[in-house]
Amino acid sequence: MTNWQATVLTLFPEMFPGPLAHSLAGRALRESLWLLKTIDIRGFAHDKHQTVDDTCVGGGAGMVLKADIVDAALTHACSQYNEEKPAIIYLTPRGEPLRQPRVRSLMKNNPSGCILLCGRYEGIDDRVIEKWREEKGLIEISIGDYILSGGEIAALTLMDACVRLLPGVVNKQESLESESFELDLLEFPQYTKPQNWQGKAVPEVLLSGDHKKIATWRQGQSEKITKERRPDLWDAYLKNDLSHQK
Ligand code: ADE
Repeated sequence: MTNWQATVLTLFPEMFPGPLAHSLAGRALRESLWLLKTIDIRGFAHDKHQTVDDTCVGGGAGMVLKADIVDAALTHACSQYNEEKPAIIYLTPRGEPLRQPRVRSLMKNNPSGCILLCGRYEGIDDRVIEKWREEKGLIEISIGDYILSGGEIAALTLMDACVRLLPGVVNKQESLESESFELDLLEFPQYTKPQNWQGKAVPEVLLSGDHKKIATWRQGQSEKITKERRPDLWDAYLKNDLSHQK
């Protein structure tokens, strides 16, 4: 059993667990392999209108989440964890682009879980982000170079990636290890029966029963596809591979 807990700070708690309920992560949640808690940011408003945002200082369209409200919500979220410090993550397109090594390091360095802060509107008053970065090591993560209407879908994405690495969530350790990105290469093509489908045959080598030959073919395919589609990953792989040989 792990005690890995994700605590999501959001104005839309009903978005969780959302699609995660129907995936591997959802099954793991029902089996208590991880915990999910949502905290409604609006609950920290202190006026009768439950105001959480205000207009941008300096002008401009849209509303900004207020620093004192987000600060109170983050403090409350932290109180859910005991001695071990959770990772504190603000989901924003301005953050570090999410890649598998970051997912791995989060799971290794923060076994108690993470606090996921989801922004809406034009953003969050930057002073509260700066305070939590300086004092508690908050990090900012982006799931890609596009603008979502809020951090919630990014938080769901990050949680899915994290939960898969918990023991017992993905059945075979082997399937985790062979997966794309663990080795910095994209995955080789997969096939199932029938052997011939609409005039397309499964590559002959896969029917040979020669495991060594099959592994070599798959490695070759992974390299070819990575080279063609993701020269950035290919370069990183070559560098890594060379450094391993040293
Ligand atoms: N919020 C809005 N867009 C986002 C993105 N691309 N990544 C993370 N959080 C976001």
